[in-house]
Amino acid sequence: MYNLLKGKKGIIFGALDSKSIAWHIAERCYEEGAEFTLSNTPAALRFGQLKELAEKCNAEIIPADATSMEDLNNVFTRTMEKFGGKIDFVLHAIGMSLNVRKGHSYDDLDYGFYQKTMDISAWSFHKVLQTAYKLDAIKEWGSIVALTYIAGQRIFYKYNDMADAKALLESIARSFGYVYGRDKKVRINTISQSPVLTTAGSGVAGIDTLMDYSEKISPLGNATADDCANYCVAMFSDLTKRVTMQNLYNDGGFSSMGMSEMAMDVYKKGLEIE
Ligand SMILES: NC(=O)c1ccc[n+]([C@@H]2O[C@H](COP(=O)([O-])OP(=O)(O)OC[C@H]3O[C@@H](n4cnc5c(N)ncnc54)[C@H](O)[C@@H]3O)[C@@H](O)[C@H]2O)c1
Repeated sequence: MYNLLKGKKGIIFGALDSKSIAWHIAERCYEEGAEFTLSNTPAALRFGQLKELAEKCNAEIIPADATSMEDLNNVFTRTMEKFGGKIDFVLHAIGMSLNVRKGHSYDDLDYGFYQKTMDISAWSFHKVLQTAYKLDAIKEWGSIVALTYIAGQRIFYKYNDMADAKALLESIARSFGYVYGRDKKVRINTISQSPVLTTAGSGVAGIDTLMDYSEKISPLGNATADDCANYCVAMFSDLTKRVTMQNLYNDGGFSSMGMSEMAMDVYKKGLEIE
């Protein structure tokens, strides 16, 4: 451990159970000396294991639906009260699509669900940022990270309306990154993470095949939740002070690949069978 986050205070949104990427991030931040509050929906608190994480990391839980400005206001106000002032970092690890869950394909979307996908998975990030900005909750050189997936940039069959939400999430990081950087020297980035078998991840049809494909085609293999946690620690630390408005790939090289040697062999074999 390097004590990279010693003295830093933050908020971590989106840890549900030990599979959650945010869970791994919270554990690593704690190991690096950070103090933080944890937030998730009241339903997630009932069905998940957040209390266990809170005990482990000596963290207070502040329930919030991240689509509610009132709830978010409470999360930031309470966190600032607890730590006696402004904080240093925020993690947004929130995503959900009812169209994905209920099997509506992209050419048969339910628009009520589509709106919820956007609200929960993208607008909630803007709401977090606007709340923090208006309360002046983040210290100069503070760091805010949201988790995203490459389907926001390129087509991944069955990622469905979540792809649109991720594209918007990444755009919000740039747009608000300009305003927050200009006015308060706060940096905002998205980390585009390899697939991981979490509750949200498992909802995507064919996730096993997708994970196997990206594992094989990426020169370094898929990045794990622990790899993501290490990257977040670096992004929350003072070592990355002038990195902002970026979509940062943590994917073993996947995003730069077109065709690998192995994929070419598999493709040729498939042609021979045909
Ligand atoms: N698992 C993957 O393959 C993968 C890959 C890249 C990016 N991501 C992103 O990482 C983030 C975390 O997902 P995860 O894979 O760890 O799954 P997860 O299911 O553990 O986390 C998703 C979280 O969103 C929370 N949430 C849902 N609705 C909410 C609301 N209205 N208000 C507040 N919180 C709400 C859930 O309670 C849950 O804790 C998501 O943004 C996801 O899209 C996941």
